[in-house]
Amino acid sequence: MRLAVPKEIREGESRVAATPESIKKFKTLGLDVVIQAGAGAGAKISDADYTAAGAMIAPDAASTLKDADIVLKVRGPSTAEISQFKSGAVLAALLAPHAEAEAIQGLASQGVTAFAMELLPRISRAQSMDVLSSQANLAGYKAVIDAAAQFGRAMPMMMTAAGTIAPARVLVMGVGVAGLQAIATAKRLGAIVSATDVRPATKEQVESLGGTFVAVMDEEFKNAQTAAGYAKPMSAEYQVKQAALTAETIKKQDIVITTALIPGRKAPILVTEEMIKTMKPGSVIVDLAAGAGGNTPLSKPDEVIEVHGVTIMGHTNLPGALAVDASSLYSRNLFNFISLIVDKKTGALNIDWNDEIIKGSAVTKDGQVVQR
Ligand code: NAI
Repeated sequence: MRLAVPKEIREGESRVAATPESIKKFKTLGLDVVIQAGAGAGAKISDADYTAAGAMIAPDAASTLKDADIVLKVRGPSTAEISQFKSGAVLAALLAPHAEAEAIQGLASQGVTAFAMELLPRISRAQSMDVLSSQANLAGYKAVIDAAAQFGRAMPMMMTAAGTIAPARVLVMGVGVAGLQAIATAKRLGAIVSATDVRPATKEQVESLGGTFVAVMDEEFKNAQTAAGYAKPMSAEYQVKQAALTAETIKKQDIVITTALIPGRKAPILVTEEMIKTMKPGSVIVDLAAGAGGNTPLSKPDEVIEVHGVTIMGHTNLPGALAVDASSLYSRNLFNFISLIVDKKTGALNIDWNDEIIKGSAVTKDGQVVQR
């Protein structure tokens, strides 16, 4: 069986889906591994590092994908790549199935069995495969580092002979995996941190990290978490109350990190232009939801803009800015997922279609789209 890793082709995508460490592990499963030349460059992995781990290097995408039984990618394939897959191949990648329906249809028509890694169920058995968590954690960290670098003041309180510098105030909106890491990072840098979310479970998590929890805690809030652990879209009435509280809170902040997402939907608007106008000049907003429509209506995907004296950073791929660590964690996630579908004795594909991890993440099977 042949496992292939083509070079990522999306603009600015520096991560890679396999590292020498994961390749060594795939070899112990009895797989042959082919890597496209230069695939690891963005993550500082040379072709020689891959060869030393036991991989073969192929010169281009076509020869990498030819005869591949399993293909690993970070982002979904282009139409040209899809046409190079063999029928019956398995693909695991971040396929963005809600946004990229055409590619999913193309994979089905090509006879590829595709798994969208972002759809893995959030059950404890899947934690070691959970790419959303491994990547969001890095994004939360980098968001604070980027904000601190952009901010024209220091983060911690400093008492010096020349006088005292006040600590920065950081508000984190959305306390999932990225938000929790943002809180922890901002605290480590010495900021005064507060945070908000619509899921009640987050109150204790924020407080345990030394942050102050700010939220409208009414009846709707008490039921805002789905069985899968995600936030529900909130009612218009709740959003009005939430906006009033945010408006009061936000004017006192120096840095706002927004991470609020609802799976499969446009991100909720939490910070309006009116609120931004009340922020102090030089304040910074990092909108981690910029790729999903944004938590502010002003953020622009992959741009840093200044509006009403406030810098709004809309990078959509912050894990890619930490490509070495992001690739290392992502490739381990993928190895753990692939070991689930490869028979350890024979090295052949053995997909258990009754397994909820498989059912939850499969988007194409037997020439059909099975879910989006
Ligand atoms: P996410 O990326 O989908 O959303 C980020 C945060 O935004 C969430 O905390 C969400 O509640 C919040 N949010 C949504 N709408 C909002 C609004 N209107 N105002 C304020 N905040 C809003 O979330 P993520 O990071 O994927 O985590 C989702 C859940 O999954 C969490 O409960 C997390 O603890 C859980 N989880 C479970 C894992 C497991 O294996 N058991 C692994 C990782 C996460």
